[in-house]
Amino acid sequence: MGFPEVRPRRLRRTAPLRRLVEETRVAPAELVLPLFVKEGLTEARPIPSLPGVLQHSRDSLRKAAVDAVQAGVGGLMLFGVPTARDETGSAGLDPDGILNVAIRDVVAEVGDATVVMSDLCLDEFTSHGHCGLLAPDGTVDNDATLTAYGEMAVAQAAAGAGVVGPSGMMDGQVGVIRRALDAAGYRDTAILAYAVKYASAFFGPFRDAVESTLQGDRRTYQQDPANLRESLREVELDIAEGADMVMVKPALPYLDVLAAVRAAVDVPVAAYQVSGEYAMVEAAAANGWIDREQAMMESLTSIRRAGAQIILTYWAAEAAQLLRDRY
Ligand code: PBG
Repeated sequence: MGFPEVRPRRLRRTAPLRRLVEETRVAPAELVLPLFVKEGLTEARPIPSLPGVLQHSRDSLRKAAVDAVQAGVGGLMLFGVPTARDETGSAGLDPDGILNVAIRDVVAEVGDATVVMSDLCLDEFTSHGHCGLLAPDGTVDNDATLTAYGEMAVAQAAAGAGVVGPSGMMDGQVGVIRRALDAAGYRDTAILAYAVKYASAFFGPFRDAVESTLQGDRRTYQQDPANLRESLREVELDIAEGADMVMVKPALPYLDVLAAVRAAVDVPVAAYQVSGEYAMVEAAAANGWIDREQAMMESLTSIRRAGAQIILTYWAAEAAQLLRDRY
């Protein structure tokens, strides 16, 4: 026998062979589409830093939800953009606030066909842009915020959210939300905890999407990108407090964290491919510097391979459609 005796290239020779030995596949049902709805809009508006993503009106949101479900996505994650913000983010707790109204709309439209989730955080609703209530000294008051989160969770569950996604990184948020939901009779409302969430520059375009003008930064509550072990502690705590699923966010710059979390726990693990990750690929593709579709699928495959069994991505509907055509 000649050298080399072993030739891994044999299995890469044709597309059918490559498909046969593919170790990782992304399924449409694992993809969750984040959707933005803005109060008072009569038609959808583009978000300049997130090309292809829209701020929806109530009507266009319903239609986008139907389209995504038809494309085969596994779920929707809703974010609300209110017309008026205040110090305490009261529009987030108001049953008639834009997010809760939108949850009701979407549940009425596609609630039997998909999982309707809602972001549970105050940053879209506060005038200062922080994820919680401010103490007199200007710091984010953990325990005062917990009370608000509990109420917000009940309002979202009452509106019909099947899963709430606490993303504010307050200590004890999952426990407080679980207790509040149970006490209000929403024992079956699940919690997807944004357990591991870094103080990341990759959330930049999201701030445009929700028109948040953050004063300062989130480093006193979101995690330091330098830390991995801390993530395992956050995940452990959230599961102990009642998280049904845990999420790592952002995704691509934190695949090592994602893999470590996957290895450490047995609950479903999600990853959020955030706005900046999406925007980087879109911007490079728009310049002709990168193949858009290939970069999109490669990034999703990599997030899946690292251990995410659920992926939140702004490409969810498009990728679901492509995957359905592919397999
Ligand atoms: C908090 C929240 C944020 C994102 C999801 N939920 C913003 C933040 O914490 O700063 C970011 C998502 C993205 O960048 O795509 N409501």
